[in-house]
Amino acid sequence: MSASDITVINPLGAPVRGSTHVPGDKSISHRAVLFSAMAEGTSRVSGVLDSADVRSSIGAVRALGAQVSLEKQPDGSLAGGITGWGAAGPSQPEEPIDCGNSGTTVRLLMGILAPWPIRATLTGDASLQKRPMRRITAPLMKMGAHFEPAGQEHLPITVAGGGLHPITYDAPMASAQLKTAVLLAGMYANGTTTLNEPAPSRNHTELMLPEYGVATTAGERTASVTGPAQPQASEVLVPGDPSSAAFLVCAAVMCPGSTIQVENVSLNTARIGFTRTLERMGAEVSVSRTGAAGKEPYGIIEACYTPHLRGCEVPAEKIAGIIDEIPVLALVAAHAHGVTVFRQVNELRVKETDRLAAIIDGLDKLGVDAWCEGDDLYIEGQPDLAVPEGLQFDSLGDHRLAMTWSLVGLTGKMPVSIKNFEAVGVSYPGFLTDIERLAR
Ligand code: S3P
Repeated sequence: MSASDITVINPLGAPVRGSTHVPGDKSISHRAVLFSAMAEGTSRVSGVLDSADVRSSIGAVRALGAQVSLEKQPDGSLAGGITGWGAAGPSQPEEPIDCGNSGTTVRLLMGILAPWPIRATLTGDASLQKRPMRRITAPLMKMGAHFEPAGQEHLPITVAGGGLHPITYDAPMASAQLKTAVLLAGMYANGTTTLNEPAPSRNHTELMLPEYGVATTAGERTASVTGPAQPQASEVLVPGDPSSAAFLVCAAVMCPGSTIQVENVSLNTARIGFTRTLERMGAEVSVSRTGAAGKEPYGIIEACYTPHLRGCEVPAEKIAGIIDEIPVLALVAAHAHGVTVFRQVNELRVKETDRLAAIIDGLDKLGVDAWCEGDDLYIEGQPDLAVPEGLQFDSLGDHRLAMTWSLVGLTGKMPVSIKNFEAVGVSYPGFLTDIERLAR
């Protein structure tokens, strides 16, 4: 292991206090870029997250013929115009499209490309090449799409598009990426395509497509689109990312003397489940709505240091709403009195890395007992947890693990070392600067 792979994270040395913003929501940013690329005309987007994952979506749509002229803004976001390929469809790309680390890019692209008569090979980094893709290609194949090799689980996969027909599909897991891929393909099939899911997943697609002139109908566990429907240029303002805010909020909850307000953050109820979980642990967290960007509500999340946290149980149907926050919630649970249980978290095994194994390993380094029974994650908290000296964590190239383990050092008394901390660039490149600024 070379020294340059290791980042030493020092204790903040002061409470986190004051108001702050977080960069644009990653899920909404991907959709703004991808839907604008599909649209007829020039869309205006602002507040777009500038991170490695969103750059994967931007690179992909450029390779497929969209014109993207986004510029860096003083607040670090991207804003500008995206001229889509519209009804003419995407162009034949010259090379395989590299989606980097981004599951959202590749899975949404599968649905976007499936209706069109081009061949596009999709690939990604070592992590993305290990992630399951059959969950996306299976329903798209039922609609008449072709993939080569047919039914293959892992990238690289070539999409060879063709005429699609509508389907009603009962998804085996709650996944917004799967739902979105099917709905986007359904826009180019004649008739109504419906996706039913076992638990509610994030609904940004259903909320945003009408902004592009495509009607959707959505219930708690179902969403439909009726084709043919060609999206038209729109204007999208991306609010702050609650999944990024979660790291600052959890830092405040764990770090004595802290009080923070994260402003202009998405308050979409499918995304802020972590605030409910923290409340159920007894944490002082509150949300207040200040506005809406299109149909996406945004506002302020406020959090204070809470000395006496208690374990809680999160039922299976609430897991999709906190799926990206479970690593950092697990760290908070490690400080709580009693056992915390996250039910049915098998999806964690197929994220950027096996987050279930990584959480258990990381908490073990802290001397905290965490284990799986079936697909349930148990954490036995220690209210007076003292972090041992000289701890080293490996992000395993996973942005959310990098930030989670860095909080051990930032909010504690001992520095920790993190291997591949720069993975934070996938969703929140300025994380360390932002949290250190709050502690001044
Ligand atoms: C996302 C959906 C979720 C989430 C991911 C982003 C999206 O994945 O974990 O970070 O933007 O649709 P799944 O669809 O696999 O649940």
